[in-house]
Amino acid sequence: MTQPAAHGELRAVEWAAGRLRLIDQTVLPHRLEHIEIETTEGLRDAIAALVVRGAPAIGAAGAYGVALALIEGEREGWNREQVLAAVHRVREARPTAVNLAVCVDRVLPFVDEGLDAVLAEAAAIQREDVRANRDMGVFGADWLIARTGLDRPLRLLTHCNTGALATAGWGTALGVIRELHSRGLVELVYADETRPLLQGSRLTAWELDYEGIEHYVQADAAAAGTILRGEVDAAVVGADRVAANGDTANKVGTLGVALACADAGIPFLVAAPTTTVDVATGSGDDIHIELRDGAEVVEWGGVRTAPPATRGHNPAFDVTPGRLITALVTERGVLDFTAGELPGTHLR
Ligand code: MRU
Repeated sequence: MTQPAAHGELRAVEWAAGRLRLIDQTVLPHRLEHIEIETTEGLRDAIAALVVRGAPAIGAAGAYGVALALIEGEREGWNREQVLAAVHRVREARPTAVNLAVCVDRVLPFVDEGLDAVLAEAAAIQREDVRANRDMGVFGADWLIARTGLDRPLRLLTHCNTGALATAGWGTALGVIRELHSRGLVELVYADETRPLLQGSRLTAWELDYEGIEHYVQADAAAAGTILRGEVDAAVVGADRVAANGDTANKVGTLGVALACADAGIPFLVAAPTTTVDVATGSGDDIHIELRDGAEVVEWGGVRTAPPATRGHNPAFDVTPGRLITALVTERGVLDFTAGELPGTHLR
């Protein structure tokens, strides 16, 4: 098993020597390997295959995709329309996380100024994401301490992977957990395994292990029971898109965690930068949920785990209604949904 220790803070997305360098998240935790991407189709495939994943990380990768398109266009003799078409294909590689489109659209206006301007804007997106994660970590930690009212280290539950691997650095929900840990205020983290692609056990557990944070991996189906037995003080998760009314798309299984938290009366905190908040989308009904290949559900490691004719149903995300969310923390502070503070009115 590869330890990330030798690498300091993980950088899932890096621009180096005219190429995009990605940590290949499909082979973790067994191997820490990088993939170098030189074409926009290569980037599109890497995003679709979850080589790079997590809403802010695919946003940053998409921003550098504009630079790749310029370099590739120069090499292949593309005209402006061909460059823009290649960028568009990267932008559409996955539909649910709004960050991908937001970050590509932010960089696009710099195309006419040339490669250096595009790269400078993409680097700014990365820097701002790390800063946002740090800030929301502090806001989220302060809020959890106040809201739980506990004067002991917390027992937390999280779903999917929201750490350095899923962002430009530090993490969103995992960033809140890291901040609490730095204050000596984490007793234990339950990391949901996150079927079918195991981002929880492969990636979150790997990051928690690196940080020296006490944790269990549990089957997703165990989460509700763990919460209702009183073994969790609060859940903290990330987001792929937060609608104006607070409805939040995140990794499939998040909704079940929120329902259990509501029943148990414990806080359910969403941590996401404002680049993940989409006030142009009114509610969760308008969020496009990515439907992935059913084989991811009925096969494991290329081996069939269901009868040959059985089809897999594989929505990659679900939508948690805003009414089940206690609060949203962004780099601007905490919106208390239970007090009616919603993105549509407070984050425009
Ligand atoms: O399919 P994935 O692994 O890209 O899904 C990731 C999630 O659902 C994360 O919780 C979300 O993107 C927030 S990452 C900071």
